[in-house]
Amino acid sequence: KHKATFSKDLLKWFEHNKRQMPWRETKDPYKIWLSEVMLQQTQVNTVRAYYTRFIERFPSVDILAETPIDEVAKYWEGLGYYSRIRNFHQAIRDVKDNYNSEVPNDPSTFLSLKGVGPYTQGAVMSIAFNHPLPAVDGNVYRVFARLDNDHFDISNSKARRHFESKVMEVMPETAGDFNEALMELGATVCTPKTPLCMLCPVQSHCEAFEEGNVLNLPVKLKK
Ligand code: ADE
Repeated sequence: KHKATFSKDLLKWFEHNKRQMPWRETKDPYKIWLSEVMLQQTQVNTVRAYYTRFIERFPSVDILAETPIDEVAKYWEGLGYYSRIRNFHQAIRDVKDNYNSEVPNDPSTFLSLKGVGPYTQGAVMSIAFNHPLPAVDGNVYRVFARLDNDHFDISNSKARRHFESKVMEVMPETAGDFNEALMELGATVCTPKTPLCMLCPVQSHCEAFEEGNVLNLPVKLKK
């Protein structure tokens, strides 16, 4: 099937199948950023409760920036990977002090903030501001490896750029929705061990499905 309909098919499915999440009710880049920091090493269902409590206590850049890290850290207790909250807090202080308390609507400026790497940059810039950037995480590796029956080793340091260019080849105008749709597909349908190919909105685009190769992908050579 033709490439052009892939993004449309996926977006249409996402429109009707997206799970409700508190950070999907807002376009506030501060809140979307927080959700992406939490979601990086933590499951959606755990993040929901932490995110809600955090935003109730720290509803804005200024309130978070003005609170000492030891108090902020209480709202992270149990999430682990505490460097995430230390970096986020530092970055938010930087936003208050140097960017007029506004999350920069510019991908390279945003990337320069503490703790922001290419994944967070792509996710926040596309979801909050619709910048056409890829947001490649483990889900997206798996989805694209399968779609293209692509045996590129995801433990290779070139994997990110490899899969980022595949995403950009099919990036539609609604970049944020598209990135979220890819994550949603990877989380609910194109799962690692028991993918639900019979329910997949892009099955007709999937070369690995056609080849009976879905469970062999993605390739990961070293642990
Ligand atoms: N995982 C990472 N970012 C996500 C998002 N915006 N929605 C759902 N799952 C995610």
